[in-house]
Amino acid sequence: MAQKYFEGVAHANLYAKFRPSPPQNLGNEIISYLKKKYTGDLNLCLDVGCGNGQSSNLFSPYFQKVIATDASPAQVEVAKTMNHPPNINFLVGVAEELPVKDGSVQLVTASQACHWFDLATFFEETKRVLCPGGIVALSGYTFPKFLHPTKANDLQRAFDLLYYERTGSFWGKGRELVDNEYFDIILPFKDFTREEFWTKPITTTMSEFVGYITTWSGFQNYCKVHGSNAGEEILEEFTSSCRKACENYEENAQLLITRKYFLLMGRV
Ligand SMILES: C[S@@+](CC[C@H](N)C(=O)[O-])C[C@H]1O[C@@H](n2cnc3c(N)ncnc32)[C@H](O)[C@@H]1O
Repeated sequence: MAQKYFEGVAHANLYAKFRPSPPQNLGNEIISYLKKKYTGDLNLCLDVGCGNGQSSNLFSPYFQKVIATDASPAQVEVAKTMNHPPNINFLVGVAEELPVKDGSVQLVTASQACHWFDLATFFEETKRVLCPGGIVALSGYTFPKFLHPTKANDLQRAFDLLYYERTGSFWGKGRELVDNEYFDIILPFKDFTREEFWTKPITTTMSEFVGYITTWSGFQNYCKVHGSNAGEEILEEFTSSCRKACENYEENAQLLITRKYFLLMGRV
């Protein structure tokens, strides 16, 4: 059974504000893998579990049309209010029932989303919709790694307390696939390959970082069970540990992080 999260508009708005967009080299890797064996026109890309379109923009310059779908009506509603290129069509739809004709798609992709799908059904649907030589590309990213010159370990400890101890039991099963960097997912497609890379250092602030934490389904589920005040308390616990570690780190002081992206690809 697929697992559904991110239903509410409030959550989708947080998502639009604080979730990272993937770096361009993720798109470049995917397009160069596709073009290695496919020489036809790039008519249609399907971005499944698109959220507010965080990764859909990577593909719009290459394809005549991108159809970006998400099971959450709220995510799609928010995506439509954002400034996305006009050749991206946002639709509500589930990964287990793709809204396109047989053999009509060159790329089926999902970014930080396939761990929530019923993968067996999604793969069957992917085989149905891909044209000969078309590819599937499933990517994800790790939690941020702190790049502080002297306090990275202390920041990591504060983060681990928040993730494992405070919100650990509030995540769905799919999160385990991400924690294991998709090593447990085997694509039933030809030329199966797995790649990974770290981003260049990314500058953020403590308040943006906390905003990103509020987008976690594990954090949102924690608040549903314990209430939003309890949610605020675990965020405060995290920020005060970080402030202590970094000698009264200001909310708007710069924080350097990196993320590892991992990418599974295969073709029909
Ligand atoms: C972590 S978000 C990723 C969003 C975006 N692709 C990104 O890169 O940030 C996962 C998205 O998958 C969607 N989702 C979960 N299960 C789904 C399913 N079975 N079919 C389609 N979308 C699904 C959720 O609604 C959510 O918006």
